[in-house]
Formats: sequence, C-alpha cells, structure tokens
Amino acid sequence: MAIISDNGDTKFTTKRNPMVKPETIEYDNTFENSIRPKDFDSYIGQSALKETLKITLEAAKLREKPLDHMLFYGPPGLGKTTIAGVIAAQMGVEIKITSAPALERPRDIIGILMSLKGGEILFIDEIHRLNKVAEEILYPAMEDFTLDMTTGKSQTAKTLRVPLPKFTLIGATTKAGELSSPLRDRFGMIHRLEFYTIEELSQVVERTAKILEINITREGAIAIARRSRGTPRIANRLVKRVADFAIVKYEGIIDEFVANESLDILKIDEFGLEPTDRALLNLIIEKYDGGPVGVETIAAALSEDVRTIEDVCEPYLLQAGLLQRTPRGRKVSPEGYRHLGIKSPSEQTRLF
Ligand SMILES: Nc1ncnc2c1ncn2[C@@H]1O[C@H](COP(=O)(O)OP(=O)(O)OP(=O)(O)O)[C@@H](O)[C@H]1O
Ligand SMILES: [Mg+2]
Repeated sequence: MAIISDNGDTKFTTKRNPMVKPETIEYDNTFENSIRPKDFDSYIGQSALKETLKITLEAAKLREKPLDHMLFYGPPGLGKTTIAGVIAAQMGVEIKITSAPALERPRDIIGILMSLKGGEILFIDEIHRLNKVAEEILYPAMEDFTLDMTTGKSQTAKTLRVPLPKFTLIGATTKAGELSSPLRDRFGMIHRLEFYTIEELSQVVERTAKILEINITREGAIAIARRSRGTPRIANRLVKRVADFAIVKYEGIIDEFVANESLDILKIDEFGLEPTDRALLNLIIEKYDGGPVGVETIAAALSEDVRTIEDVCEPYLLQAGLLQRTPRGRKVSPEGYRHLGIKSPSEQTRLF
C-alpha cells in the first residue's frame, strides 16, 4: 500500500517518554498516520490559515528566530494536530506531542520542558484542561524561556531560575472559551479552524482513496464529501467504510451510486447526521416540545456523556443550523424539524 512519504525532515516523537502517558501519542495509529498530510500542499483548505502561516514561517526562518507560540481551536477532526505536524516539517524541527491530561503533576511538565531543544515544538492537545500548577509553570517558560523552581521548605525555600532553550508551544483545543485568559494572552497567534466546504472535502476524499488504492469517481467523492459534516476526519472514515462496500459488494470502484447506497446502509443521512444526532433532535422535539432543554438532561436521556454531546454532536448541528443554543438550553430550529420531516410548532399554528 502506498504511504505518503515523510519529507524526512521531521520525526514525530513516538518514543515512550516516561513523562508522557502513552495515550497521548496518537501518531501510533497507522491508518491516521498514513493519510495525515505532512506538508502545506497536501493540507487541503484552511487557506487563510495557510497563507498566514507561510509568511510567519518564512519570517522566522529569515530572522533565525523560533516561531511564536500558537493556539489552534475548533471542533474535533478539523486538522489542529495535523497542522502542527506540517509546521514542524516545514521548519525542519522536531515536535513533541503531549496532552493536558498527561501533565497532571508538576514534574510531568517540567520534565518535558527540560527535554526540549532550541527551536523545537511542544504540542499540547486539549490545552484547556491544564491544571493551575502546570499553567503557572508554563507562563515564564512561554514568556522568558525560563523555569522557576522552588527548592527547600517554607522559610528556607529558594526560587531557582533555570533557562530553557527557545521553543515554540503549539496548543490545541476544542474549547477556546475554557482557556484561562493569562494563558490565552501568551500565544502570539490564535487561529480558529473552520469547517470544510464540500469541494475541499471531496479533495480530501480523493486523496485518501488514492492512498487506499481504491478507484473513485469525482461524483463518488462529492457524494461522500456531502455527508462528511464539514470534517476531514469523518470524510476519511467514510471513505474507508465505503471502500469496504465497494470491494465486497461492487466492482471495487466508488461512484455516486456506490457511495450513496453504502452510506444509506450505514445510516448516515444526506446531511451527514448519524443515528445519535437524529436521536438528539428527535428527543428535544418529542419530549421537550423542541426545547429549550439543558445539555445535561439531553445527555442523561441519550445515555451519552455531556462532553461527547457538546464536543462531537453539537458543533456541526449548530453550524448546519439544525440546533440553536439559547441561554436556557438547546432548541431545535425550524430547519431541524424540516430535516426530520416533522412540522415545526410555527408551521403547525399557521394551519389554524
Ligand atoms: N486540511 C486537511 N487536509 C487533509 N486532511 C486533513 C486535513 N485536516 C485534517 N485532515 C485529516 O483529518 C484527520 C483528523 O485531523 P486532526 O487529527 O489534525 O484533527 P484535530 O483537529 O487535531 O482533532 P481533535 O480535536 O480530535 O484532536 C487526520 O487524520 C488528517 O488525515
Ligand atoms: Mg488533535
């Protein structure tokens, strides 16, 4: 199977650093890794971000300075981790990947900071989940490239300033609102990743099909893109699943018919909604007259985790205009009713 070649510049650190818990090293996943773009050309869409980054990277290279700390935020699967890898590759530096839940104890963050070399990138995923102590260690590290360590007890305590090499912190989060403002203010660049257009997603689909060595028509790629909720990770997942259908049930080619047929069987509708999304909308309509209803109530009724509802289901339902967020909870929009083929309350009253 063809694997996208790494340009050789960057090594993604997959060594088991004792400071970093194994679950934080997501580059181990072979399928994800083989389809993850490694340079700006294969990183599709997000053109505003790419343009800014190209200039920032060029300037840093010319000035021989490390990059500013950067924060990327947006719903899951839009390419935050991927862009961090692309940046490292373009700069020809190593990237160390960890995530906030793996940095529970002060020695976790201190260990990883002390292991960095000049110009290297430290990537912290889910950075909104950093605890106060870790944040306070990060402030002087980000600002002055120093580590302030206290030794000894109470009266005899001394603060030791340890210089750190000039590194770049890249933070990623699905919840920028939960980041403390002192931490947010220390990032030189803050960028929100946007949902992808159907055209962009169809390019993602075609690229992944090529890596999987599966034939796909333009229409087949567009059909998959339409149901991918604006999200490359979902597009990739769907290509893989449709490819299985194409190989087993059809002639190994994904065309529009094969794509639509397979996705119907997988219960992914024309909006890309999955059974859980439709269950969520149905629940609000049937049990709560269309809302508003609190997210905790929704989560309990669906036996789902509040975080899954907020981070995975809702962003796309909100973006697609099927769901609305109000101060008193979530509400199904008239489009949401229409999508499920149910008359909205306003349409019903108009009848009388
Ligand atoms: N711009 C892009 N072009 C092509 N493929 C992309 C792009 N962005 C992301 N992908 C693909 O989507 C998958 C998910 O991307 P990534 O892991 O970077 O998302 P994320 O924003 O970090 O998500 P999470 O919030 O869950 O960590 C990757 O495997 C990658 O192959
Ligand atoms: Mg990620």
